[in-house]
Amino acid sequence: MSSQSATTPLPPSAPRRARVPRVPPAPGALPVLGHAAAFLRDPLAWLARCAASGSGEGVHRLRLWGRPSYLLTDADLVHEVLVTRAGDFEKGGQFYRNARAIFGDTLVTASAAKHPHQRRRMQPVFRRARIAAAVPAMHLEAARIADAWSSGGVVDVVRDSVLYAHRTAVRTLLPVLSTVEVDRLAIASARLIEDLFLRTVLPPQAGVLLRRRFEASLRTLREACVAAVPEARAYAADERSGLLAALLETSPHGDGPASDEEARDHFVSLLMAGTETSVSALAWQLHHLSRDLPLQHRIRDELHAVAGERPVTLEDLERMPLLRRATVETLRCRPPLWMLLRTSVREVRLGGHRFPAGTEFYFSPHQLQHAPGTFAEPERFCPERWPERGPSARDRAFLAFGTGPRKCLGDHFALTSLAVATSAVLTRWTLTPADAKPPRARLRTMQVPLALRLRVERRHSAL
Ligand code: HEM
Repeated sequence: MSSQSATTPLPPSAPRRARVPRVPPAPGALPVLGHAAAFLRDPLAWLARCAASGSGEGVHRLRLWGRPSYLLTDADLVHEVLVTRAGDFEKGGQFYRNARAIFGDTLVTASAAKHPHQRRRMQPVFRRARIAAAVPAMHLEAARIADAWSSGGVVDVVRDSVLYAHRTAVRTLLPVLSTVEVDRLAIASARLIEDLFLRTVLPPQAGVLLRRRFEASLRTLREACVAAVPEARAYAADERSGLLAALLETSPHGDGPASDEEARDHFVSLLMAGTETSVSALAWQLHHLSRDLPLQHRIRDELHAVAGERPVTLEDLERMPLLRRATVETLRCRPPLWMLLRTSVREVRLGGHRFPAGTEFYFSPHQLQHAPGTFAEPERFCPERWPERGPSARDRAFLAFGTGPRKCLGDHFALTSLAVATSAVLTRWTLTPADAKPPRARLRTMQVPLALRLRVERRHSAL
């Protein structure tokens, strides 16, 4: 399909008003609501139905909130949008417009024009040495949570994943903060994310109370960051000064150190990008492990072989291929960002159709990662389907971290944090499901288990 479907910008002589492309509609539209009901009711099943319908060769017309929009279900077309012709598309639509208005043009929300500079600016934050220096803080937070469980008890995994993800993000970004302050900011950060979805989908005048609460959380985080910046700035060259401090040095590209305001905006945007995604990934990872006792034993053996009884380091984790494959498989089965969106910035040709500028294209990492033609038995959790190093650049259908110029910049940090938390849990506890039925997913911007209860039994040797 890719050979005939290049998204070629039209020549200058093309007519200014593109005709509405003749793309077959996606199944499941209702008379007034269009496809909104399918999106809200059982979107994963609906996406699979769209992909299986075969009409439109991977492009399906949507009736959604009155805007011209299409669903792409073919991995090659999605690759064109994200990689080959990435310059023809940007993060547009109401969600990103609202997010930009609230948080400014930081890397996550940056418009196409500002993105290359923001990306270059942010790269030092995720240098390997900074991630390696953050591992003890990840371990500390995982141990605080896992040590509070009691043997034979039932753990609310989503609640504890929220604690882990927000505390770890705050502490690794700004290690100068005390534990009391980390916990206070983690609560504000979790509240901010909880309210973010409604804040970005509702019009600005809606929900006065929600807006006040949202702004109070945002203020708490910004003020605390600005208060911590002078100390972080003083030790910025030391890798142990945290991820955010990487922005407080002069960059090799000639950018000066970030101002307090810039540091504050990046702090909040990284919390936004890195917390709920990690909550989702950790909760689903523990769910999958709880249903596979032999896999828990094998990962423990691997852990013991590389680290013995001491807390893991980044080097140890790099020598644990089974844990890595299990994590990648979790992200294949349950990609946290289950749906992505791009808007065309000019007229484009895609899948044999022409689309005008301003057209919205939706595509789902979840649907692509469950395509039966790409992954055998896609519903089965099977770490062995991946090579030791996980997916390669050729695995177009693995999109849990996105791809192309806007691929997740925090992917190594996220994989490390997940591996540290999983190791800390497995060295202390054996996990089994407390409920017979697997958890259902709550699908908003992320997919997170609606509720996940696991029974934990103490193991004899703990780190
Ligand atoms: C398992 C956890 C994570 C997953 C699955 C994930 C997934 C993604 C995906 C799919 C995108 C691309 C979105 C798009 O193309 O529209 C993205 C972008 C991004 N992520 Fe992550 N992410 C995770 C964790 C993190 C963490 C921990 C951080 C930082 C602390 C982070 C920082 C970012 C940033 C800065 C971007 C924007 C990159 C750009 O636009 O250039 N992510 N992430």
